[in-house]
Amino acid sequence: MSKSEPLLEIADVGAVYNHSIVALHDVGLRLCEGEIVALLGANGAGKSTTLKAVSNLLAAERGAIVKGAIRYAGLDVTRTKPSDLVRHGLVQVLEGRHCFRSLSIEENLITGALGRGSSRRETSADLERVYAYFPRLRDKRKVKSGLASGGEQQMTAIGRALMSRPRLLVLDEPSMGLAPLVVQSIFETLRRLNRDEKLSLLIAEQNSAIALKYADRASVLENGVSVLEGEASELRNRQDIRAFYLGAAEPAGQSALASAAA
Ligand SMILES: Nc1ncnc2c1ncn2[C@@H]1O[C@H](COP(=O)(O)OP(=O)(O)OP(=O)(O)O)[C@@H](O)[C@H]1O
Ligand SMILES: [Mg+2]
Repeated sequence: MSKSEPLLEIADVGAVYNHSIVALHDVGLRLCEGEIVALLGANGAGKSTTLKAVSNLLAAERGAIVKGAIRYAGLDVTRTKPSDLVRHGLVQVLEGRHCFRSLSIEENLITGALGRGSSRRETSADLERVYAYFPRLRDKRKVKSGLASGGEQQMTAIGRALMSRPRLLVLDEPSMGLAPLVVQSIFETLRRLNRDEKLSLLIAEQNSAIALKYADRASVLENGVSVLEGEASELRNRQDIRAFYLGAAEPAGQSALASAAA
């Protein structure tokens, strides 16, 4: 892969479910190493479908890419097994912060290291690194994740992804259902990971206010079509765009925007 080539490139992608339901018509997006890119759009716009396509997970839901191309780090994603993508550093935190509820938070984190076949020493060093980013998880490491708060579960899901040493971390609606302060703290941590470790991030969000605050660039989806791409700082200031494409879908985001602007 040459230096100027993006780490992830989605070009003219179309996708269907069950051979019939068209979820994506024409999606395009580029992400360069070290960037935070937000994928925005209202309910049902196709954010999750795009992210699943990026990790080659659509087949598991009777979905398929019907046109276009997705390349990650020189690999043709549609021809690469999801587990191989993970091995190459493309790691996804799916919507809904899935944890193994009967396992402790620490056990959940350790499951993230299993695929790598790392030594016990490496695993404990990686755990320390996750705890340094999420000190709350250290305090709660013995608690069963099913008994943890929503925010702690989201941190656990992100921490587990970090245990597999991602190069590109893909997150589907990390803010969903969480209190504004918790959301803020999670995004602050994501930005620190980006700055300190050059971790690249692709984040799908309905909450455009928070995503635009932390992203470098953003891409907007409407009904399965990429309608807009630009610098997050520019989109942040374009109330017309936000009202037109995103406004109806983010009642909670409006107040977050107001406070971010204040
Ligand atoms: N497993 C599935 N089978 C059939 N259709 C699906 C499936 N998953 C999603 N869809 C449809 O594909 C379209 C895009 O959905 P998708 O979940 O990608 O949107 P989204 O932007 O993530 O929405 P949300 O903000 O609600 O999470 C929608 O019309 C949805 O109903
Ligand atoms: Mg979704």
